[in-house]
Amino acid sequence: MTNRKRPKVYITRKLPDAVETRMRELFEAELNVNDAPRTREELIEAIRTADVLVPTVTDRIDAALIAEAGPQMKLIASFSNGTDHIDIDAAAKKGITVTNTPNVLTEDTADMTMALILAVPRRLVQGARVLMDKPGEWEGWSPTWMLGRRIWGKRIGIIGMGRIGTAVARRAKAFGLSIHYHNRKRVNPATEDELEATYWDSLDQMLARVDIVSVNCPSTPATFHLLSARRLALLQPTSYVVNTARGDIIDEDALVQALRAGKIAGAGLDVFENEPAVNPKLVKLANEGKVVLLPHTGSATIEGRIDMGDKVIINIRTYFDGHRPPNRVLPSRG
Ligand code: DGY
Repeated sequence: MTNRKRPKVYITRKLPDAVETRMRELFEAELNVNDAPRTREELIEAIRTADVLVPTVTDRIDAALIAEAGPQMKLIASFSNGTDHIDIDAAAKKGITVTNTPNVLTEDTADMTMALILAVPRRLVQGARVLMDKPGEWEGWSPTWMLGRRIWGKRIGIIGMGRIGTAVARRAKAFGLSIHYHNRKRVNPATEDELEATYWDSLDQMLARVDIVSVNCPSTPATFHLLSARRLALLQPTSYVVNTARGDIIDEDALVQALRAGKIAGAGLDVFENEPAVNPKLVKLANEGKVVLLPHTGSATIEGRIDMGDKVIINIRTYFDGHRPPNRVLPSRG
């Protein structure tokens, strides 16, 4: 680095050892080895005194916090793909650059999405539970017991055909599903051809025609409760909803009601509206076998987390070498 002074980097959560070791070597790194989530007061103190803040999706870096930033605060290098926890516009107004860690979570998150797509219709958790909770009670194979629904030959509707949505589509195609998608804009013709994908300009029309919905778009003001009560009502009673993106894209209360009323068949959720709190009604539905719940582990692989850490380090180093960091997140226009 051309800058002789090592930047003071405040990291809000425990990161993989290899990442922390490298950060210690390169920066004046304030680590969080105990992993206790930082309090608001601690974040305020950090943004007032550090040169770089490394938050994760569990930290709320809103306009009020950013307003506390001292003049030395230059970079928010988020250890995350999503940036909905950061007020990017407020940071830009303060002259603070924001970066994230795209690409390295794509395949892991798509794998977990596929796992949920399979787990709910094929009753994976219910089946596993029989052997874990009451192994002695299993009477053996039966032609009519524990039947789920097949997924091959069905139609998947992907909401958000970015990197993760496309990676989900590739997997789903390999599992024999036909690909339908809704996106702000159509993907390029080569990708559409490869996936044999059908584009739906109207989300409502797509929802009425698919068997499995996979939510893969970012959380923005425009996607808040995108799957509202009205839209959930468009789904067929045999359909499933899977969400590995962000909880607030689905109106969770409406989803619970739709599941309860049998308006949809099931759901696989890795993300929740009020994380880490999980709606007890969803837990009840999980115990009844209607939903599979995961604790936001869509991207949770050691390889992925190390790759994320490497990206954070590259973004910080590039910035302090006087260049534009590769994963800069731009503020909205206007
Ligand atoms: C992210 O980084 O945005 C993911 O949600 C973490 O899994």
